[in-house]
Amino acid sequence: MAKKGVASALTLPVEAYNRVAALVNDIVSAHAAQQKVADGKSVVDIDLIKRKLAAKTGISAGQLTLGEEDASRYVNMEAEVSKRVVNQDRAIRALANAIRRNKSGLSNPHRPMGKFLFVGPTGTGKTYLVKELARFLFKDPEAYVRFDMSEFMEEHTYMRLVGAPPSYVGFGSGGQLTEAVRKRPYTVILLDEVEKAHPKVWDIFLQILDDGRLTDSEGRTVDFKNTVIIMTSNTGMAAVDSQKYERMLTERWEKLKALDEAQDPALVAAKVEKGLDGLRAGREAELKALEAKVAKARADLETASAELTDLSQVMKAQQMLASLDGKLDAEREAAEARHDKLIAAKRAELEAKFGAGGDRETARAKLQAEADEIEKAWDAEIALAIHEGVTQRFRPEFINRLDEDPDSKNKWVIFNRLKKENIGIIAKLQVKEFVDLLSERHGTELVLGDDVMDLLIEHGFSPLYGARPMQAAVEKFIIDPLAKWVLDMAQKGESAADRRIKVSVKDGTTSFEMLEKLEKVVEKRTLEGAAQALTREVM
Ligand SMILES: Nc1ncnc2c1ncn2[C@@H]1O[C@H](COP(=O)(O)OP(=O)(O)OP(=O)(O)O)[C@@H](O)[C@H]1O
Ligand SMILES: [Mg+2]
Repeated sequence: MAKKGVASALTLPVEAYNRVAALVNDIVSAHAAQQKVADGKSVVDIDLIKRKLAAKTGISAGQLTLGEEDASRYVNMEAEVSKRVVNQDRAIRALANAIRRNKSGLSNPHRPMGKFLFVGPTGTGKTYLVKELARFLFKDPEAYVRFDMSEFMEEHTYMRLVGAPPSYVGFGSGGQLTEAVRKRPYTVILLDEVEKAHPKVWDIFLQILDDGRLTDSEGRTVDFKNTVIIMTSNTGMAAVDSQKYERMLTERWEKLKALDEAQDPALVAAKVEKGLDGLRAGREAELKALEAKVAKARADLETASAELTDLSQVMKAQQMLASLDGKLDAEREAAEARHDKLIAAKRAELEAKFGAGGDRETARAKLQAEADEIEKAWDAEIALAIHEGVTQRFRPEFINRLDEDPDSKNKWVIFNRLKKENIGIIAKLQVKEFVDLLSERHGTELVLGDDVMDLLIEHGFSPLYGARPMQAAVEKFIIDPLAKWVLDMAQKGESAADRRIKVSVKDGTTSFEMLEKLEKVVEKRTLEGAAQALTREVM
């Protein structure tokens, strides 16, 4: 029973079905017969038809396939969205809770599906999550409308949202907000930098949050119950001295890096051996000097004894000569023992200095603990500054109508600062986006090695700007040089279309290499097949 309830809550309203169904035939015939395949049948691009449908009905392509099996998607929403949005579990959970409440019929059906205030550091995914939410809900990352609230600072600008009243300039052309939602009722509404808007503009949104409806200047009521409203703000962030924290952290990270290098046994051994070179040379020199001394004594004795005539003296000299070897051995042993002791002491000292000895570990733990403390202090200061920023800037009746953060129960959701360990996945995601685009548009398959990813990670992260530098790094090391290279190749008569291209790192930058030509695979559907499939999906 419960399952059925969820499923029926997921399906499209009847009137939407009817509108869609009526449009299917029109659109299919209007956009279908552009291409002929070998056997003379027409083929259609089913995605194109879906996009046209979406544009006409305001129902995104993804909505057309909502059915029983989709109920589980909402249950697993966090897992799906967090594949693409990294380290923002709390924000994703907040969204998922709201969406599930709505889809299961447990929330007020006359209010927007969700209404959130996203706050926190720049480049951490506030705007990006909006796109990913649109992708999740409507299978279309562009199924959102963005309003830059810094363009709505003055009182009269509210008219741009709902349309100018009669007798005002612009009357009759509708409002930007009301028109957007009228055309596309299933949408995410993004209000960037919401703190900058004039209170009169906020009043408009207050009404939407309360009623789920808004009447435009021409008296048409627009329904917002299939929208999610997301406001973003950097309020409070200016009060945090982020550079100070970054400096303190970087210092610890550098020291930790030096310590990590000390953990590599081969590296340590090499350093220790080098440090012992001097003492070893001293040992060799002394042993050599000893031998030279004894050799000289032997030579002197031999010369002297050759001139001796007294038998007893000759015998004495012979004895002395015989004992010289024993003396040398004894002295050599003593010298060796002395030097070896010195060297052993020095080795222990060097190993402690360069190696991962006990005090290294303590030093490491201490630095790590300090870094953790700095991170915590930074986050605490951000949370406090945001609390102050939000409560000072927004009226309580506005804030109280928003959905809450499931952990803190605040009416705003703080985005986490991104960490170094998140950036590898973000690099992969951004590269994949470009690779997919290239493959879709030109049939080009880009192959990247780990060395390329390492280069991107090295340049694409900053504690201050989150993932923003990654976009710049992908542009600098992949997109821009590839564009140039593709044009160069084109001049030489080599096309990159339908080719495999390898990217690798040379001398700290990327280089490209043309590999084999690829077989082009096109999925062809007949006109009849496409029409049938579409009708099945929407009916
Ligand atoms: N958590 C994340 N997971 C994956 N990618 C991210 C994440 N955060 C940021 N990015 C990447 O960085 C880009 C910039 O992030 P985004 O525009 O969402 O920042 P923002 O939080 O809205 O910042 P601002 O406050 O300056 O508007 C995104 O388009 C995305 O590619
Ligand atoms: Mg943003």
